[in-house]
Amino acid sequence: MRTPLVATLLAVATGSASAAQPWMDKAKTSTQRTELLLKEMTQQEKLLLVFGYSPRAQLGQIDATSILSADAEAGMAAAIPGSAGYVPGIPRLGVPAQYETDASIGVRNAEGLQRTSLPSSLATTASWDPRVMEAGGRMIGQEARLSGFNVMLAGGINLAREPANGRNFEYTGEDPLLAAEMGAGQIRGIQSNHIVSTVKHFLINSQETGRRIVSAQISKAALRMSDALAFELTIEKSSPGSVMCSYNLINDVYACQHPWLLNSILKGDWGYQGYVMSDWGGVHSTVFAATSGLDQQSGFPFDKVAYFAKPLKDALEDGSVPQARLDDMARRVLWALFDKGVMDHPVQVGPIDFAANAKVSQSAAEQSLVLLKNEGGVLPLASPKRVALIGSYADKGVLAGGGSASVTPVGGNAVPGLGPGGWLTQVWQPSSPMKALQRELPGTQFTFDAGTDVDAASKAAAAADVAIVFVHQWTAESMDASLSLLGKQNDVVSAAAKANPNTIVVVESGGAVLMPWHQDVKAILAAFYPGAAGGEAIARLLTGAVNPSGRLPITFPASADQLVRPQILGKTDGPPFTVRYTEGAAVGYKWFDLRGHKPLYAFGHGLSYTRFELAELQAQQGKGRVTVKFSTRNTGAREGASVGQVYVSAPPEAHWEAPRRLVGFDKQNLKPGEKGTSSIQIDPRLLSTFDEASNQWVITPGSYEVQLGAASDDIRATTRVTLAVRRFTSAQMRR
Ligand code: BGC
Repeated sequence: MRTPLVATLLAVATGSASAAQPWMDKAKTSTQRTELLLKEMTQQEKLLLVFGYSPRAQLGQIDATSILSADAEAGMAAAIPGSAGYVPGIPRLGVPAQYETDASIGVRNAEGLQRTSLPSSLATTASWDPRVMEAGGRMIGQEARLSGFNVMLAGGINLAREPANGRNFEYTGEDPLLAAEMGAGQIRGIQSNHIVSTVKHFLINSQETGRRIVSAQISKAALRMSDALAFELTIEKSSPGSVMCSYNLINDVYACQHPWLLNSILKGDWGYQGYVMSDWGGVHSTVFAATSGLDQQSGFPFDKVAYFAKPLKDALEDGSVPQARLDDMARRVLWALFDKGVMDHPVQVGPIDFAANAKVSQSAAEQSLVLLKNEGGVLPLASPKRVALIGSYADKGVLAGGGSASVTPVGGNAVPGLGPGGWLTQVWQPSSPMKALQRELPGTQFTFDAGTDVDAASKAAAAADVAIVFVHQWTAESMDASLSLLGKQNDVVSAAAKANPNTIVVVESGGAVLMPWHQDVKAILAAFYPGAAGGEAIARLLTGAVNPSGRLPITFPASADQLVRPQILGKTDGPPFTVRYTEGAAVGYKWFDLRGHKPLYAFGHGLSYTRFELAELQAQQGKGRVTVKFSTRNTGAREGASVGQVYVSAPPEAHWEAPRRLVGFDKQNLKPGEKGTSSIQIDPRLLSTFDEASNQWVITPGSYEVQLGAASDDIRATTRVTLAVRRFTSAQMRR
């Protein structure tokens, strides 16, 4: 009988590779080093690299025939408690174990390890500045490293196709270009720490309701121009070591065993060199998954069956999975470990500077919060005598999203005991907007009302010069959200607005919410989930210490019936069901433009305490690229940042999915009177449609309108450019 594999390898002294081992020669490329190492590996070692464990599980529930129980027990025991996963290393060859942690806003630990949380990814996407995402990624990646992790399950970039998707807060908005620029920023930041980041969840995991049984129906061409395009661009701009395939089915095939998606598109057309890891419990077969392009089964026993461990070994022995496929799986994992620096820079647990990291989080929030409305100059607050704060525990903290992306805050949960509990505990970051406001405005008297009783809230508002009502929408993985605020929140806002003409609303939400009272209040600040220092950031924006510069990364609808699907479809269990994405690539503002719906607040919208003039728009062609130039002038009285947004409209014969697409943007920080210039190169894919038959991008010849805007519904200047016919492949874009 053979000795269980993991147990043997764990027992081997942690002897690391010596520099004399040829694959440790840093002068060689990652590819060369990978090949040298691969040659030395035994079959058992290769099998080891492609099978991951989770520390959270009970062996009792699983199909024991698929594993060697001692392997599984040792694998689960070796994972860092409370972490997402673990893949054993190979000490004799210097291959470190892979220690995996969630997720996009910080290091998550189910056992309560306290770490810094960034604003939600959607919140930071509202900065429209990839450098902000990158700085945040650098910070959480460093915390991951110093906590002993070398794989971060970050880079959530699914398009916000369903505004009620409970995980939109983990993602980077509704537009493929914006999602990619921001997601890539985060991944570059994380991987600068010599660790691997994923990009996830591949693909079209657009709702949480029935996420393991929903079959997304969409044409391949529409997918290539929307959700897949976001991944294509992100991968090009940031080279994530791993791609996590999603739970759902796409056109009736599970994403983690989808030959078209994984073999033809990702590894074929896009030339992806890293490895595909499954989402936790997302594997459905051995031979089909392996031959369809899945490289690593994650988090056993989330899948109750170990498809890759022993069954994969058997499938290799009987020839149903070719040896070359296992070699390719192992090669891809090794390549990522070399290329991202994991092999050369072993992680070491060390002290974390939480005070410095809270500042990174605060800075991200300050550059991201979106001022939606500001009437009569009610903001910034001009040292009012009495301010009533109402609702949403604004005396204690700010909300965060739930699920595997939920980070236990440094200092603990400010409002414990809320939410369904367990992994879906509701977390409030201990960053009190009230305390921060008191620090910013020491001469002002603040009161707090819980906002649970309409009359009490109304009285509190009436007794003050300014009322600030905090409302919230808690969203979480595994469930979709209501766009309507829950409880009495809408009534409380309306009552406060009636009682006090200077009523301001701060919205903490996973994404878009409905605001039936929007006309009755003076100002609205969209804070999303603003992170570890969100209270400070909110206070500094309201008081004017910071000039708001965020712009919406998603459309806020006026009502749910403006949406493609006013309600999320499906059920939570049972046999697979279908959702038809008939809107194709017309996601978000594209759908609104197509239907002529007027949203409550449009994609790209956001106010400032100063004014900007966008002008001097020019579009030129050269070397197959269109370059757009424009200028921005700060015509107001204080420093601030503007986001110039460039959209393009195609001639009708091009048959675009919608009247306009975002093709570029540039954020400029300017002093009063100062003028900045921007130059943007348009990616040709953003000017094309995808032709399924030839597997090519096609630019239809004709006259295209280039639009310069402050939002998708606020176009300030236009010009035209004539494009010639062009056909090209994704592969040609990488050269
Ligand atoms: C989530 C992933 C996460 C994984 C590991 C899954 O439920 O969908 O995003 O990385 O768990 O915790």
